[in-house]
Amino acid sequence: MPTALTLPSQVTPPRFVLSELGPEEVDAEVVALPVLPADETGSLVLGPGATVLAETHDLLGILEVEGATGKAGEVISYPVTGEGPLRRILLVGVGAQRRTDFRRAGAALARAVRDRESLATTIPAVEPDLALEPFVVGATLGSFGFHWRSAGPEWRPVARITLAELGDDRAAALERARAIAEAGWRARFLATVPAALKNPAWLADQAVALAKDAGLTAKVWDEKALAKDGFGGILGVGQASATPPRLIRLDYKPAKSGRRTPTVAIIGKGITFDTGGLNLKPGEGMATMKRDMTGGAVVIATLAGLAAVGCPVKVVGLIAAAENAVSGSALRPGDVITHYGGRTSEVTNTDAEGRLVMADALAYAVDEVEPDVILDVATLTGAMKVALGQQLGGYFATDEALARLLAEAADVSGELLWRMPLAEAYEDKLASKIADADNAPGGPGAITAALFLRHFTGGLPWAHLDIASIGDAPADRDEWTAGPTGFGARLLLTWLGQDEPLAGIGG
Ligand code: BES
Ligand code: MN
Ligand code: ZN
Repeated sequence: MPTALTLPSQVTPPRFVLSELGPEEVDAEVVALPVLPADETGSLVLGPGATVLAETHDLLGILEVEGATGKAGEVISYPVTGEGPLRRILLVGVGAQRRTDFRRAGAALARAVRDRESLATTIPAVEPDLALEPFVVGATLGSFGFHWRSAGPEWRPVARITLAELGDDRAAALERARAIAEAGWRARFLATVPAALKNPAWLADQAVALAKDAGLTAKVWDEKALAKDGFGGILGVGQASATPPRLIRLDYKPAKSGRRTPTVAIIGKGITFDTGGLNLKPGEGMATMKRDMTGGAVVIATLAGLAAVGCPVKVVGLIAAAENAVSGSALRPGDVITHYGGRTSEVTNTDAEGRLVMADALAYAVDEVEPDVILDVATLTGAMKVALGQQLGGYFATDEALARLLAEAADVSGELLWRMPLAEAYEDKLASKIADADNAPGGPGAITAALFLRHFTGGLPWAHLDIASIGDAPADRDEWTAGPTGFGARLLLTWLGQDEPLAGIGG
C-alpha cells in the first residue's frame, strides 16, 4: 500500500472588512485607489477616497509619468516613505466600470499585494451596488493559490482587505459576494488536488464535511450500495480502480419551503482521474485529467453556497464519482452497461466515460428526486474545447427560459457560456447494433454527447453544461489562475440566488 498522503496546509482567501473611514484613515500597509478613464479635459480622474492622499502625494503626476490609461486592471505603484504603516499607494484602472472591469481590477490588485498584511481600497465605492460583488470575486480568486511544497506556499494572499468608505449597510451584500467568491475558490481547489489523494471516497468525504458546515443533508453510495441500486454506469467506469466509485447526494432546502417549493437537480461529473481506460489517452491528453471531476466540484461548491445567497428553491446535488483507470478488471470496448433504470449502452470507447456515469445520476434524479428542472455540469468532450477554445463554456438547453436565465447568470457572474444546438439531425448517430445507444457515436462530439445524455432526462426542462473547454486556464488572467478553473459555481449560484430562478421555465 502507498503511504497515506497529507495535503500541507493551504493559503486562505483574504478577509474582507467594511469601513466608513477614508482609506488614509484605515491602518493599512497598502492603499488602492481607483483610476477612472479620462474626463473631457483629457486627463485621468482619481475615484473616491483620493482627496486626502492626493494633497501630499503627486498621484496624477505619477499617472502621467507612467503613461497610465485607466484601463481595467492596470496597476501603477507609488511607494511611500515616512511615519505610519502606509508603504505603497496603488492606482488601479477600472476602465468602463462594468462588472467585468471591477472583477479584473480586483484580481490585478490581489496579485499586486501578495504577501502584504493589509490593504484598504475604495475601488468598490466607485459604484457599490454594481461593483462590490465582482470586486470581491476578483480579489478573492486572483488570490487563489495551491501548493504541495516542502517549504510552504511561494506567497500568501494579502490577509485583510478593508473596503473603505462603505458602511455596515453593505454587510449582507458582502456576505453574498463572499459566498460566490468562495464557491469559485472551493471548486478550483478541489479540481487542483492531485488524484493520488483525490479518489472518489476522498471527494465524498469533502462533500460530507462541507454539507455539515452548510446545513445540507448528505448521502453517499459506496460500491455495494451502487450495485444494489443498479448504477451500472458508475460501477462499470470505476471497476478498474483501486479506489472504488461513489455517488454523492446533497440536499438543500430553503428556510421557507413547503411541499410546493420547486426542486432543481444539479448533477456533476466526478471522474477523479481519466486515463481513458483501455482506450488509453496519450500522455499529453492525460496530463490535466485530475480535474475531470470539475463538474462534481462545482456541484459541491454550489450546494455549499446556496444558503448564503438566499436560494429560494430546493436543490439536490448529485456527484457521480469514479476513477477511469486501467487494470485487468477494466471495462472493455464492446462491453454493454445497464444504467440505473434499465437503459443500456454499448461501450465502443472507454474514454467516453463521463456520459456513462452521468446517465446513471440523471436517471436517478428523474426517478427519485422528481425535480422541476434538471441541469448537469461536466468536463465532457474534447470537441467542446475545439469548438469554443479555453475562454467559454458550452451549454445546451431544452427550455428557452432556462437557456435565457443561464445566459444572463453567465454574463453577471463572468463565467461565460455559449449555447450549442441539440441538433436532431445527429440523433441517428447514437444507434448501436446491440444496445440502446453507442457511447461514442462520433462527431460532432459535443452535440452527440449531449444527445446521448438527453435520453436520461425524462423530458424535463434540462440544461447541460460542457465545461471541458474552460476546465483549465493556460495562464493567470483576470480572476483565472493557471491550471484548473473550477468554472461554473459562480454562475450557478448567481442563477439560483435570484428571487425567481425558475421564472418562465416549462411555460
Ligand atoms: N474528460 C474527457 C474530455 C476532456 C477532454 C476534458 C479534454 C477536458 C479536456 C472525456 O472523458 C473524454 O475523454 N471524451 C472523449 C470522448 C470520445 C472518446 C468520444 C473526447 O472528447 O475525446
Ligand atoms: Mn474520457
Ligand atoms: Zn473524462
